[in-house]
Amino acid sequence: MLAYRHAFHAGNHADVLKHTVLALVLRYMNLKDKGWRYVDTHAGAGGYSLEGEYANKRGEYEQGIARLWNLPGLPAPLADLVALVRAFNGGATLKQYPGSPAIAHALMRRQDQLRLFELHPTDHKVLSSYLGETPGVEVKMSDGFAALKSQLPPPTRRGVVLIDPSYELKTDYVRTLAALREALERFPEALVLVWLPQLQLIEAAQLPQRLKAAADAGAKKGWLHARLTVAQARTDDGGRGFGLLGSSVFVANPPHTLFGELQPVLPFLAQALAQFDGAKSALDRSGG
Ligand SMILES: C[S@@+](CC[C@H](N)C(=O)[O-])C[C@H]1O[C@@H](n2cnc3c(N)ncnc32)[C@H](O)[C@@H]1O
Repeated sequence: MLAYRHAFHAGNHADVLKHTVLALVLRYMNLKDKGWRYVDTHAGAGGYSLEGEYANKRGEYEQGIARLWNLPGLPAPLADLVALVRAFNGGATLKQYPGSPAIAHALMRRQDQLRLFELHPTDHKVLSSYLGETPGVEVKMSDGFAALKSQLPPPTRRGVVLIDPSYELKTDYVRTLAALREALERFPEALVLVWLPQLQLIEAAQLPQRLKAAADAGAKKGWLHARLTVAQARTDDGGRGFGLLGSSVFVANPPHTLFGELQPVLPFLAQALAQFDGAKSALDRSGG
């Protein structure tokens, strides 16, 4: 039984980071006419109300997208994300937040394909009614980890994969690593984005190194890792610490432009989305 619902977290600092990188990657793919296939192994509902009970339980978007909404001086990739979110809202008031399928849908062209996997029946239903009838889009209620193999390589040999589990199950860490390895085995040029939580948990701490080793072994064009820390570990739990401190996005076979595009974005986000004085960011890449 899946308990995780992304509606509680939509538009938070982690979504802002992930969707900024996703939009940059898809815009890069659009520089060539040849069609691409986008595979979202953990697609969620596709879009979320920020006015409902879920989003306002902890108001996470208020510490995320809402802080950027009217902020002057945004670096270009963040201005682009805000523009995409404004378009999704159909106006200047922040009422809804797009999920990764909606970002991909906004950027897809007639020749591109979306393959969206979501296991939760409610989120699958919402996603299906939103995008299920759109030409070029397939929405499936099946295990995205297991389905990935069948989607690669895409017929045009241009593919972007987003692996964005909730890490609600400890097995998600192992399956994420296996999915990256498998994707690169089948298609060494696959542009794979993996979202990673920053938690005080051994599995979370080890995963970036493991993904880097997998990409070193299997990716044609190396990797990039962008990390954003916004919150402090809680100490009211006997010192163990819990809660999301931040997150990162790992990219195998990143576009050659991505590192330079993210350089001004990460320090800007660390400042704009900080929840404590020690907020920080890091950006590294293979061979760097
Ligand atoms: C972090 S959310 C996805 C958010 C979405 N990618 C976005 O950026 O808007 C993770 C989603 O994966 C779903 N899920 C969990 N295990 C899954 C699996 N094995 N295959 C497909 N979906 C799964 C959950 O129900 C949840 O909606």
